[in-house]
Amino acid sequence: MHVASTCANLPEAAQTPLGSEVYQGLTARPKTLSPWLFYDEQGSQLFEQITELPEYYPTRTEREILRVHADQIVATAAGCERLTMIELGAGTATKTGLLLKAAVRRQNEVTYHAIDVSGSALDEAKQRIEAELEGVAVVPRVCNYTDGLGQIDASGERRMVLYIGSSIGNFEPADALQILRDMRKDLTPGDKLLLGVDMVKDTELLLKAYDDAAGVTAAFNKNVLVRINRELGANFNLNLFRHRARWNDEKARIEMHLESLVAQQVSIPALELEIKLQRGETIHTENSYKFSDAGVIEMLERADFHLSDHWTDEREWFGVYLATAW
Ligand code: AVJ
Repeated sequence: MHVASTCANLPEAAQTPLGSEVYQGLTARPKTLSPWLFYDEQGSQLFEQITELPEYYPTRTEREILRVHADQIVATAAGCERLTMIELGAGTATKTGLLLKAAVRRQNEVTYHAIDVSGSALDEAKQRIEAELEGVAVVPRVCNYTDGLGQIDASGERRMVLYIGSSIGNFEPADALQILRDMRKDLTPGDKLLLGVDMVKDTELLLKAYDDAAGVTAAFNKNVLVRINRELGANFNLNLFRHRARWNDEKARIEMHLESLVAQQVSIPALELEIKLQRGETIHTENSYKFSDAGVIEMLERADFHLSDHWTDEREWFGVYLATAW
């Protein structure tokens, strides 16, 4: 019997996660590509480089907040219980060590469940953390965001979910709220969420952080085209695109785009697709939402979390929020 498929007339490559994302994004108007496409091996390395740029303040600002307040954050989260830590989008987990160390100071041993889509990043994290931090057991899990949370056995300990690095800023407000709600469903009252978000600030500072002088962010943005060339056989010419960062004041977000410098046509053989771009037309590749204190608290409340405490830096550029599931 013939079973009808919903995309029976699309090539097979269009039904993989990457293929369908690219197919849908580049046939839409305006054209878009989802930011998760950035993170192949090269893209993950470029992101690591971004975090060390002088203009890119978020990573070092959040790290400084965690460095100064780790003991208090962990103490507030633990109350009189033991913590199991779970990090979503752990990556190479370079900032997490500060919290893990504080947990070891408090309870001698801690289990750290590291969840990420990149297996190679998790392997690196496990190796480094277990070598550097005695008392930490790293349990890596390769999967997509929240679907891993429900399956984690905390053996009766209080769960502390880390969602730091302003990763939530990549999502539309409605999707961000849904992510927190899904997370909440997998938690027990009393469990904790530590949410790190980038705050609204001076526009010039924001723009520089997403358009650095060394051109690393430009390379990171264009890497999505390199990836599509490699994985789908496309012929994007990087020289015919320009990296663009803009501040959308109405939506309180930085947008990254790839602007076509000429009228051109690009083929993506694996998707049997020809894409036309006008001169000046852009492919929207990322939103990075910036938050206000009131906005974060409202989002947490709407997802059935109560704010327990929050910490920021002197300039209030970045916020770290500790919330309790109830
Ligand atoms: C990893 C989503 C937090 O939005 O700042 C950095 C990604 N994009 N430079 C961010 C990113 C361009 C980053 N997040």
